[in-house]
Amino acid sequence: MSRPNFTEETASDIVLSRMSDDISPRLREVMTSILRHVHAIVREVEPTQDEWLQAILFLTRTGQLSNDVRQEFILLSDTMGVSMLVDAINNRKGQGGTESTVLGPFYAVGSPELPLGANIAREPGGQPCFLSGHVLAPDHSPIVGARLDVWHSNSHGFYNVQQLETQPEGNLRGVFHTDAEGRWCFQSIMPSSYPVPEDGTVGNLLRAMGRHAWRPAHVHFIISAPGYQTLTTHLFVNGDKYLESDAVFGVKDSLIVDFIRHDDPRELAERGLTQPFYTAAYEFVLEPLSATIDGHASRRLPQTTRAGDD
Ligand code: BEZ
Ligand code: FE
Repeated sequence: MSRPNFTEETASDIVLSRMSDDISPRLREVMTSILRHVHAIVREVEPTQDEWLQAILFLTRTGQLSNDVRQEFILLSDTMGVSMLVDAINNRKGQGGTESTVLGPFYAVGSPELPLGANIAREPGGQPCFLSGHVLAPDHSPIVGARLDVWHSNSHGFYNVQQLETQPEGNLRGVFHTDAEGRWCFQSIMPSSYPVPEDGTVGNLLRAMGRHAWRPAHVHFIISAPGYQTLTTHLFVNGDKYLESDAVFGVKDSLIVDFIRHDDPRELAERGLTQPFYTAAYEFVLEPLSATIDGHASRRLPQTTRAGDD
């Protein structure tokens, strides 16, 4: 039996032909695409042996840096725009629901369940902020009992899962349920912009590419309700200087919100505050589960802890 030589020309066909006939069609589709594209990259870039070793060492180190509380591969996917591309494919617009954005690595299951209006800031400092709005169906009828899982960074740009020793348990995280009018509200502090972790392989790559690591200030939300697609999104603070250059490409115009500053002494007194505060409002719209396009509307609630359990 003649065996073709493995050459630049025959490489892809030879590797692909080794796949068995009786494998999953989806795996065949995915592996065919991956192998063809990786081979195409190598043909185009023509790496030296040393450059290829550097690439392998980069991926090795990226894996070694990943553990229960740090996921350098997700960060790589986020900063290369892949996470947002997957998000875009899986959240093609159906019936005018709120736009989604990246989950990020700092989500944690088990945030405290709190009554509407509760304060999620459990440490002193920061500028008080009151967030509120509704969760609505596409026809703008209220969704009663919708679940909002919220989290954000502190005024120094750190999530509590990054500072388990110094930030109180559950700081700047909470789970709320909308009331009979579909209304949600809670108190917190102003989120701040922050750099994604820069001390690993991804930070090195960003620097080498002449890119910064900053994300504009935002609050994360995962919103779910029976019969509706789960929405993973953020609200971004209007005016933030990183809105145009988010390190993970997560900003969408529809998610940029005015955080309004209040310093009228009467308003401060009404809220029992001695320093200026901010308010922000947003009406979230969830799409019904039936509004799937191409089978790609899997706004699933993450099943695993990605950044340590509160
Ligand atoms: C975040 O917003 O928490 C985040 C998203 C992607 C990478 C790093 C952080
Ligand atoms: Fe974030």
